[in-house]
Amino acid sequence: MSDVPFGNYQYEIYLQGMADRTPDFPVGWAALERAAHDALDPGARGYVFGGAGSEDTQRENLEALRRHRIVPRMLRGVAQRDLRTQLFNTTMPAPVLLAPVGVQSIIHPEGELAVARAAAGQGVPMVASTASSFTLEQIAEAGRAVDPDAPRWFQLYWPKDPDLMASFIARAEAAGYEALVVTLDTPLLAWRPRDLEAAYLPFLKSIGIANYLADPVFRDALDKTPEEDPQAAVGHFVVQFSNPAADWAGIDRIRALTDLPLILKGVNHPADAREAQARGVDGIIVSNHGGRQVDGALGAADALPLVVDAVGDEMTIMFDSGIRGGADAFKAIALGADAVLAGRPYLWGLAVGGEAGVTQVIRSLLAELDLTLALSGHSSLKTVTADVLSRR
Ligand code: FNR
Repeated sequence: MSDVPFGNYQYEIYLQGMADRTPDFPVGWAALERAAHDALDPGARGYVFGGAGSEDTQRENLEALRRHRIVPRMLRGVAQRDLRTQLFNTTMPAPVLLAPVGVQSIIHPEGELAVARAAAGQGVPMVASTASSFTLEQIAEAGRAVDPDAPRWFQLYWPKDPDLMASFIARAEAAGYEALVVTLDTPLLAWRPRDLEAAYLPFLKSIGIANYLADPVFRDALDKTPEEDPQAAVGHFVVQFSNPAADWAGIDRIRALTDLPLILKGVNHPADAREAQARGVDGIIVSNHGGRQVDGALGAADALPLVVDAVGDEMTIMFDSGIRGGADAFKAIALGADAVLAGRPYLWGLAVGGEAGVTQVIRSLLAELDLTLALSGHSSLKTVTADVLSRR
């Protein structure tokens, strides 16, 4: 891990300007978002940019963060900054991970493999989705090829068949994933008007189901192999994908299946956080899936303090849904998150430039977070607490 401050990325860019070179992709987040919007096919554009219902929660996620304002402090000696973060057995250069996102081949042909390489190049953990376009083994290998120690976590969509669930978890352990993230907010797919208008669901075309098609338990349940009868395999996926009967007793069964740190994604209510803690869960990701599930839900940044108040002293708390730059990451940390997950912004990088685009996004995010930390008077994340914010 380099000791050069992340914020020095800007000097690298300015120096290249001496040779008349400018960054390959837009640097401003809004400009990058527009470029990604233009680069994607209509179906993929709707999938990435859309949310549930009126997309009110998707907008509210950004507003909830914007309502908090940073109150900078001065003259506190910020020449040396330390952003290194340890979550469970995973060490990361800054409190930033890449959120699990499925079907990334609709965004770029190299999909999750490009993201795994970019993440590994920066030492940032990638959380690989169950619904990935490549298998979890291929994604692990792509990261390992860049850095043998590249950190990775696995996100589980809870299948109906308990043996399939056990198989996914065992495969993730064997491939060197360091934590298990169970997403709770998707027992069913939400009503998503943009996807409905285009009647667009890539899984039905066998895209984003690689982990299922490669799984021995999944294959055993089919009469013919997925290669012989792809439609029957898709049909079995549709039956298996996610389990609306999931309940807390199931968390006990998952807990018994693995010694990996167990993290629940999509917790927003303090009572759910306390229930998780009572059942031996190690961490929580406060998230509303980027406004893609419950339209009308509160902004994730408004749920974060409720969960932190309930269990923040006992559990690791992470945050996603609305992170659009270094200032947002800083605010989430001030509100009590131990780390944040970037979602859509790295998809914009993937859309415009594959691995290089994702690398630019990660480096920009870390640079902005480092500079926000320094310019608001902090040399460590430890002093970034709720009192550094003022609410509008
Ligand atoms: C997601 N998200 C998601 N979450 C998950 O647990 N498994 C998954 O497969 C996916 N897939 C997915 C696809 C797309 C296109 C998006 C935008 C999001 C949710 C993701 O992990 C994260 O919670 C949100 O992206 C956070 O919201 P923002 O900050 O990206 O708006």
